[in-house]
Amino acid sequence: MNLYDRIPNNVNLSEDKKLQRALEKWLPNYLDWWREMGPEGFQEKDVWLRTAIDVGSEGWAHFDYVKMPEYRWGIFLEPPQPEAKVGFGDNYGKPAYQEVPGEFRNALRRIIVTQGDTEPASVEQQRQLGKTCPSLYDLRNLFQVNVEEGRHLWAMVYLLHGYFGRDGRDEADELLERRSGNPDKPRILEAFNQPCDDWLNFFAFTMFTDRDGKYQLSALAESGFEPLARTCQFMLTEEAHHMFVGDTGLGRVARRTAQLMKQGDVRELGGIPLDIIQKYINFWFSYSLDLFGGEISSNSADFFAAGLKGRYKEREQYTEHTAANQMFTMTVIEDGKLTTREVPLRNALNEVLRGEYVKDCEKGLARWNKVLADEGVSERLYLPNPRFHRHVGEFAAHTFDIEGNLISREEFERRKDEWLPTMEDREYVRSLMHPVVEPGKIANWIAPPAAGIKGKPFEFEYVRL
Ligand SMILES: [Fe+2]
Ligand SMILES: [Fe+2]
Repeated sequence: MNLYDRIPNNVNLSEDKKLQRALEKWLPNYLDWWREMGPEGFQEKDVWLRTAIDVGSEGWAHFDYVKMPEYRWGIFLEPPQPEAKVGFGDNYGKPAYQEVPGEFRNALRRIIVTQGDTEPASVEQQRQLGKTCPSLYDLRNLFQVNVEEGRHLWAMVYLLHGYFGRDGRDEADELLERRSGNPDKPRILEAFNQPCDDWLNFFAFTMFTDRDGKYQLSALAESGFEPLARTCQFMLTEEAHHMFVGDTGLGRVARRTAQLMKQGDVRELGGIPLDIIQKYINFWFSYSLDLFGGEISSNSADFFAAGLKGRYKEREQYTEHTAANQMFTMTVIEDGKLTTREVPLRNALNEVLRGEYVKDCEKGLARWNKVLADEGVSERLYLPNPRFHRHVGEFAAHTFDIEGNLISREEFERRKDEWLPTMEDREYVRSLMHPVVEPGKIANWIAPPAAGIKGKPFEFEYVRL
């Protein structure tokens, strides 16, 4: 069989012998990885999935029943812009890079590998979840997210194979060798080594951690390295669904909890108490904030100066694209106290991107709080202060309460069970996770969705078991 006929693409793969040779070696290893680390127990089932078969606004999402190992993972880049220019930094206005500029080679490879590593990591983190799905609709959404994260890995591997030669191929191999949570060969970023073994974790992960992905991809979609920019632009169209899954998932849990609160004790009624939902929000929001990197960062300055990684909506949102000779005021710690400091803007770009992310997360909170209000309960959910529970950057060496006040480590240890999921909370949530696989039925701890997928009703048989 001609392998390449099975790979939908718009990179002229059937003509590209070099890329074919590289993929020939990598592909069987990818499929082995998928069978070993992909969704456990469902590999032979028919799942109603969308497959990207084209980048056009109509054609790209094709829906049909597919067995996951037979999913057609494709390679798609947004079509090139004629006469594309570097959109920011020291080379602003110069022709966009069509090949890897030698002086930025290491930085670019590192950016691509770090992004690429998150994609298979999340599949690994989520591989047991199918066994406890709250409905067939949710099961299908989980698998949709999983196969698309697989495709995102392909997207990054395409860049490594297509533009980096031998060291790119080595990096592509290593992307299949690291394992989420494995102490000997962990994934690169910490949020991607955290277990995601119940559905409340899954919804919080897709809400907060996939949303970090949106902001990283958006910043890379501005890149002066054109193949990267065009790859990330297309990935963003898929990423939107992942965040939808998390956002509406948590909204549906909040709705069900509110309904049960009106009936009596949420625990006795088999629901998830609001304070546990809040702790999961605190956990995943804080870990996801870490993914943006240090508040003050010479890497962020270098990546921006080189035209590799821009700001969120750099072209659309800004008129000045050098970010040179400008200052940014941020909160820092000096002599054990919170204070503000002026930092060169280019060194503060991680924090600028994080700020965009926080604003976006707040909209999710507003949606869930509207659900709570609609259901007639007065309690509300909130985002913790961004200094809370950080492991990277300016605040990592200090401890803060949920409102961002500096507190002693002893006080943090004494109070952390108020803010973060305890073993007991996690066990309780896990105790609710029993599979519901009859079409049209749903678990007791979550409300059904407002609508099905692609015009299908909630009762549709999204996965044939
Ligand atoms: Fe992704
Ligand atoms: Fe995603």
